[in-house]
Amino acid sequence: MRKKIVAGNWKMNLDLEGGRKLATEICAMIKEKPLSELPGNPEVAFFPPFVFITEVLKASEGTSGVSVGSQNIHQLEKGAYTGEVAAAMVKSCGATHTLIGHSERRAYFHEDDALLAKKVEQALNSGLTPVFCCGELLPEREAGNHFKVVKEQVEKGLFWLEKEQFEKVVIAYEPVWAIGTGVTASPEQAQEMHAFIRQIMAEKYDKVTAENISVLYGGSCNAQNAKELFSQPDVDGGLIGGASLKATDFFAIISSF
Ligand code: 13P
Repeated sequence: MRKKIVAGNWKMNLDLEGGRKLATEICAMIKEKPLSELPGNPEVAFFPPFVFITEVLKASEGTSGVSVGSQNIHQLEKGAYTGEVAAAMVKSCGATHTLIGHSERRAYFHEDDALLAKKVEQALNSGLTPVFCCGELLPEREAGNHFKVVKEQVEKGLFWLEKEQFEKVVIAYEPVWAIGTGVTASPEQAQEMHAFIRQIMAEKYDKVTAENISVLYGGSCNAQNAKELFSQPDVDGGLIGGASLKATDFFAIISSF
């Protein structure tokens, strides 16, 4: 059975104290109402900026079902790449996950499919779970190309993996037109794409593998719309941006299965 996951992508927000406070508040709510007692028994992951990872880990210590990851990693193992952070460094801090291929990285940092495949490889080599993001732009959807675009991103980013490696991956479908816009995909639009992603996974690997991969939805998911989105059979949780920065909102989303 695949896991339900709610992940908070904090992006370039908060400072150290703010990050510590946010993680502490959410963990206190989880301690009061353990994830194992919530519908869906979800897992929770925080994706703070690199510099807060250690402190957020400390704040989350002892809260069952909560993990921490980075928002990015470099595509190479190590070396003279001033300002960059390697997957093994993230892992050595105690983090367990990393986002890869967020649309903001694709758009503003020109990360393409070939580069993202290398990042996936580094994550897996270092023992980090890649949360691989995919999603189409508005003009691509308007032109009816959304399935084709997402298929290509997933194929090039992930489908070169052997099955044993692919099984460790989490996928996040984030239509770019829904990110930070307040315009969310309808539950039907999300379900349709998630089912499509599951279908192409089954075609590439097999049905059992496809059934076991968590596919999260991201893009203006909030405390009001999470329940309807998460009720879709192929939506296994969310990758939350803005609404992950407020403890009560984020906890309401965690409680929306
Ligand atoms: P918002 O929830 O702010 O739309 O952001 C979604 C996102 O990009 C998560 O990675």
